[in-house]
Amino acid sequence: DHTHADTLRTPIVAVLGHVDHGKTSLLDTIRGSAVSEGEAGAITQHIGATDIPLDTISGMAGELIDPSDFDLPGLLFIDTPGHHSFSTLRARGGALADIAVLVVDVNDGFQPQTEEAIDILRRTGTPFVVAANKVDTTPGWNPQDGEPIQRSMEAQSERAKSMLDENLYEIIGQLSDAGFSADLYWRVQDFQKNIGVVPLSALTGEGVPDLLTVLMGLSQRFMKEEMAIDVTGPGEGTVLEVKDERGFGATVDTVVYDGVIRNGDTVVVGGQDEPIVTEIRALLRPRPLAEIRTEKEFEKVGEIGAAAGVKIAAPDLDQAMAGAPVRVVRDRTVDRVVEEVKAELAEIEVETADNGVVVKADTLGSLEAMANALREAEVPILRAEVGDIAPRDIAVAETANQDEHKAILGFNVDLLQNAESDLENADVKLFKNEVIYQLVEDYERYVEEKQR
Ligand code: GTP
Ligand code: MG
Repeated sequence: DHTHADTLRTPIVAVLGHVDHGKTSLLDTIRGSAVSEGEAGAITQHIGATDIPLDTISGMAGELIDPSDFDLPGLLFIDTPGHHSFSTLRARGGALADIAVLVVDVNDGFQPQTEEAIDILRRTGTPFVVAANKVDTTPGWNPQDGEPIQRSMEAQSERAKSMLDENLYEIIGQLSDAGFSADLYWRVQDFQKNIGVVPLSALTGEGVPDLLTVLMGLSQRFMKEEMAIDVTGPGEGTVLEVKDERGFGATVDTVVYDGVIRNGDTVVVGGQDEPIVTEIRALLRPRPLAEIRTEKEFEKVGEIGAAAGVKIAAPDLDQAMAGAPVRVVRDRTVDRVVEEVKAELAEIEVETADNGVVVKADTLGSLEAMANALREAEVPILRAEVGDIAPRDIAVAETANQDEHKAILGFNVDLLQNAESDLENADVKLFKNEVIYQLVEDYERYVEEKQR
């Protein structure tokens, strides 16, 4: 019973979409910083989380938002690199994200990773809005920096407007093909039944006020109950990434979605072989409006409450897995929490058989997605694991009874250097891809050719 400690936490918003469709740029505009300019090739290397307080949101949304209408503290945005699996974003009972923004380049429309994102949103039942980005690239566009989109559209020539409309209706049609009824957001009466499409430009900022307004409205109206948490309860979170940090060793970038995590807490973290029980040595937090992956000088904090992104430094975290649960023990027994973590990991179903291929993936969520795709393709799995491809994976693949199963399918992982010569000398075929269905297709094509 947690009646009087209950408070409303920040909703977690995942930003998803195909490579280069503008996820990071959109967050940059919202942040008022330019993270992507400092990035190698403007490609996001890691998953990060950014907390945007309500004040900042209402400042940007201007006349569209009256901050007194809201009692949620703001929005916590999680950027996902296009080549990374969004399926990392899992939590107890489903999706880590409360809502999502699906970014679609208005000229390109749906692309492979857009489809993958839609599949995951459908499977997890996550409410989402579509950001139809890059409207400024419409020929003859007359930019209206930072303006609400309808005002900006009024300033366009008939020709530019009809070209944009055509692209927008194409996207609405693609959403409909994917089984979602959608419309331009200002025509949507019920956001639970219809997906709102927000035309915008991350470059000029036009339409961004509209997106923030729709996101705040969605969170406030449909999710207030889910946002009520016991702020003093034992913290729960999900590992986004395991990273070596100078002076700290292996750390886990974590999104806390419930309760509070304190320095010195004993935590249980999902690990490669078994749950890791460890004690927190430091909680490292980026400042508000800063970005976890570019912030070099972390702020050490005594505690952090949901929802927030935090880097946890503790011994023995090198075996932690991206996508795995993090649970504070607090006043329970370690054994009980270990059992909870085990049960949660057991939910991630990867059926293995006595015969089949070896699957390696970067995160638990992507491993699960790979397993689903392979099940549909009726490809059996001998072994499935999170992590880069190591010599022992090659040894295992070689033991397969059928030649076609002497294969390793790697999703978003690398071949470790010490495994390179093993692979050369072994009768094992390696497939790597950053799009799940393409990886499965590559393998299927190989099997077909082999059978010919
Ligand atoms: P990944 O992280 O690699 O998946 O890409 P992303 O979706 O984060 O895309 P990013 O924000 O890095 O943008 C990709 C390119 O599109 C960059 O060159 C941006 O400057 C450009 N871009 C993004 N949004 C807009 C926009 O609204 N208008 C225009 N003209 N260019 C944009
Ligand atoms: Mg990016």
